[in-house]
Amino acid sequence: MPSPNAAGRAKAVAGMGFGRGKVILLGEHAVVHGRPALAAGLGAGVKTRATEAEADALHAEPWSVTVRPGEDEPLARAFAALLEAYPSERPAFHVHADVGLPGGAGLGCSAALGVAVADALDQALAIERTPEARGELSLRWERVFHGNPSGVDNMMAAVGGVAVYRRGEPLERVRPRRPLPLVIAHSGESSSTKEVVAGVARQLEKEPARVGELFDGIAALVNNAKLAVEEGDAKALGQLMDMNQGLLSALFLSTEKLELLCRTAREAGALGAKLTGAGGGGCMIALAPDLEAAGAIEAALKPHASMTLVAEAGAA
Ligand code: MEV
Repeated sequence: MPSPNAAGRAKAVAGMGFGRGKVILLGEHAVVHGRPALAAGLGAGVKTRATEAEADALHAEPWSVTVRPGEDEPLARAFAALLEAYPSERPAFHVHADVGLPGGAGLGCSAALGVAVADALDQALAIERTPEARGELSLRWERVFHGNPSGVDNMMAAVGGVAVYRRGEPLERVRPRRPLPLVIAHSGESSSTKEVVAGVARQLEKEPARVGELFDGIAALVNNAKLAVEEGDAKALGQLMDMNQGLLSALFLSTEKLELLCRTAREAGALGAKLTGAGGGGCMIALAPDLEAAGAIEAALKPHASMTLVAEAGAA
């Protein structure tokens, strides 16, 4: 959509962008500390459009928020950090973002926004970048929000599909033998990834042996889950998700509400269920045997959740 410039004429949209949400199937938190995580990109995400303007600004809907570099506010600082990676000899841009994900839910909303802004700017400036490189670039955005992000959220926001991510290593794409029907339910409790990640780091500092063993256990589950996805063994994948939930609870990351959602999903036919993302609130994911069962699981979760969604990960 063209937007009017100061002279009242319509200016052409220079670039369009997209960043997708993600779910971590297994491996959150351990991935911050060098272990692998298995993650999947979602169809839902953030759409952006960049239009040449008098000065740089970012406007995000449905939040009705506009920020400019130089303002002392996380979104403005993240925008400024991203803009610093672009040539200084460039036109200014107004970036409009339509955010189609809940924030603070474990679905990678902030990373999707950062990737979508970078995508629109890249297109506007005719900068050729691979999705992986865009994921890498948007880490500077994500650091403003999350302090010590592993990088999994921004990489999945940029690349999508199903993949194993390990800090500092190239993304390892996974080809699921069959698509994974997932049900996502929001507990209605919001949580700060930055604070929850810092809490886990404090646990590791106090009890390195216990917490290190939990991380190693999670890494073993991730490696087995990758094989289960490749072999199309949904039953095994579900069991591994349940075990991961147990280890996340041992790190005090679950809540009563998340436990209720996991139990409800399993009783309604899910093969496995766990929190996804930072925990301490946010979303639960459940693996359904098929899409029809996913509908029934979603119906059972609805009375307990502030938002539900069925997604098929790994569908071509
Ligand atoms: C957040 O989606 C996942 C965490 O592992 C944090 C991170 O990887 O940066 C909790």
